[in-house]
Amino acid sequence: MKIIRSREELQAALAVLPRPLGFVPTMGYFHEGHLSLMRASRRENRSTVVSLYVNPLQFGPQEDLARYPRDAERDRLLAEREGVDLLFTPDDEEMYPSVGRIPGSLQRTRVQVEGLSSIWEGASRPGHFEGVATVVVKLFHLVQPDTAYFGQKDYQQALVIQTLVRDLALPVTIRVLPTVREADGLALSSRNAYLSPQERQAAPRLYQSLRLGEELIRQGERDPQAVIWQMESFLSKEPLCRLDYVTVVAPETLLVPAAIRLPVALLGAAWFGKARLIDNLIVR
Ligand code: PAJ
Repeated sequence: MKIIRSREELQAALAVLPRPLGFVPTMGYFHEGHLSLMRASRRENRSTVVSLYVNPLQFGPQEDLARYPRDAERDRLLAEREGVDLLFTPDDEEMYPSVGRIPGSLQRTRVQVEGLSSIWEGASRPGHFEGVATVVVKLFHLVQPDTAYFGQKDYQQALVIQTLVRDLALPVTIRVLPTVREADGLALSSRNAYLSPQERQAAPRLYQSLRLGEELIRQGERDPQAVIWQMESFLSKEPLCRLDYVTVVAPETLLVPAAIRLPVALLGAAWFGKARLIDNLIVR
């Protein structure tokens, strides 16, 4: 596996890689969720590129950019073991060159996916999806993959990316793979590292609330507000959980329907101590 830090080296290394090329963008601190995407790329392509870049553009000023968990050495070993061909780990100057920068901003150009970027995760994290969309488009241009791999764990992110790829006619296929979970249901996340032992015990409740919502819908409940209320009430019984939102939405628009018609997406976000966790479930 080659480790690559500059765009120039990346272009040289890409030129000699056999195609088709699979690409897995990440912010590192790898877990089985990341590794499942690398494996899928390996299965479906002749070469695999992984990027590891903690993208400042997608973090709000009060968010966890500075303390986002990092372990470059372990990540290198894990990616190597998965048979990744290139690990692209640019620094901030490489991704957002200071030339032409305006003070207080990493770059002037931003990619905005209207509507989808400003609700749910986008409402709680203003600017987040603009930062994600911008860096992902930039990475697509640098890596020029045939297929790029994303996790369903970040459902809204995957939808934002599928939408921008279609809207901008980018020549890349997007594959979205299932959420990898711990035995007790907690979705794997780099941010789980923030949880204290007690918070870790409480954290599966977010997924359990989504399963409860699914159950109500399967039993015939068609009023989204009734499902939302039950999920909220279930989460409020856990003192270590501070709810941000749980909701029932149409999978493509992310709007709450007047009445539930399958499929629907159940989305949730909640704080457990310093960790803001998200999860989702599609009811088909
Ligand atoms: P990161 O949080 O590192 O996630 C990288 C990829 O792994 C994303 O596609 C995410 O959905 C997927 N992933 C995370 N947890 C998962 C799980 N439990 N099961 C399956 N897949 C999982 O998402 C980002 O980085 C960034 O926003 C990025 C797209 C790299 C842009 O900066």
